[in-house]
Amino acid sequence: MKNGYELFVRPLLFSLDPETAHHVTMRLLGGASHFDVALHAIRSFQPPAKPKTLFGLKFPNPIGLAAGLDKNGVALSAWAALGFGFIEIGTVTAKAQPGNPKPRIFRLPAQQALINRLGFNNDGAKVVAERLHRLRDSGRWPAVPVGINIGKSRATPLEQARDDYLCSFRLLRDFADYIALNVSSPNTPGLRELQEPQRLSELLHAVGCEAGATPKPVVVKISPDLSDAELRPILAVCEENGVAGIIATNTTLDHSSIPPQLDQAGGLSGAPLREKSTSFVREIAARSTIPIIASGGICDAHSAHEKFQAGAQLIQLYTGLVYRGPQLLREIMDKL
Ligand SMILES: Cc1cc2nc3c(=O)[nH]c(=O)nc-3n(C[C@H](O)[C@H](O)[C@H](O)COP(=O)(O)O)c2cc1C
Repeated sequence: MKNGYELFVRPLLFSLDPETAHHVTMRLLGGASHFDVALHAIRSFQPPAKPKTLFGLKFPNPIGLAAGLDKNGVALSAWAALGFGFIEIGTVTAKAQPGNPKPRIFRLPAQQALINRLGFNNDGAKVVAERLHRLRDSGRWPAVPVGINIGKSRATPLEQARDDYLCSFRLLRDFADYIALNVSSPNTPGLRELQEPQRLSELLHAVGCEAGATPKPVVVKISPDLSDAELRPILAVCEENGVAGIIATNTTLDHSSIPPQLDQAGGLSGAPLREKSTSFVREIAARSTIPIIASGGICDAHSAHEKFQAGAQLIQLYTGLVYRGPQLLREIMDKL
């Protein structure tokens, strides 16, 4: 049976092109974030609490908002009011950038999937930091952990990636409960090369040296397109550098499940990614004790359960939320 979002809200949003629908949603949630009455109304969606502590943080429930939906951190209070147990904003880059030419988000409803080639469109670390500063001063900072996902600016050559990440890290770390290093988005040329053990080790070492008196947990978001032989040394580097968690996984470049006439260049997310990302969770859990945050194809209670069974401690939603709406949180929590 369809839920209220699927019956009434999704048809309206899907009558718009995907990026316009995204802007409308963000404007509404961003606006609601400024009003206590609106936040109070949104709380009616909230699922029951199921607290969990991980890398020193208390999560009211294990379901988080995945990176990319609120890239600029404009609606944190609304996400918390909807019942997310944690919120990951970003990807934020050191330099503000417009991203790739439009159109750059594509819906595949029959596959419960999206393809995107946004390319880290975002306001840049300085503007996002100022926005978060204002939110903190307003007293509406959410009562759930906030992760900030950072990535490399497109204009920065790969050889200078470390300084680019450090710039964002310095500007944003005070606002973050954890920092996610995104080295796996497929839409920034060369970014995934930062998963090479030597480069990843240098990046993690540099970030570790900046930690200061109260170090924040650092998590690494990996690609589902890594081979088994590539994954193993990444896990070793993460362990050596005290990484707090691994987000498995980002979107995939494997479009083999998509009919050619519907295909587009970009990262594929949603149901077709589910099995692949779950097998990554299982593989990481078998080889390492690093906590896992599962992301990829969670569209119902069953697919959420599958991630926990495979070894995930936390999960994140993006595409499932687009297709199933905020009631998905309650649906998952009711069956946990
Ligand atoms: C439109 C769109 C934009 C995204 N942007 C980002 C991003 O900026 N940074 C990031 O780390 N992941 C990004 N992602 C990946 C998601 O965070 C998530 O890892 C991925 O979509 C798999 O989860 P899903 O199948 O639930 O969507 C994006 C995904 C989509 C669909």
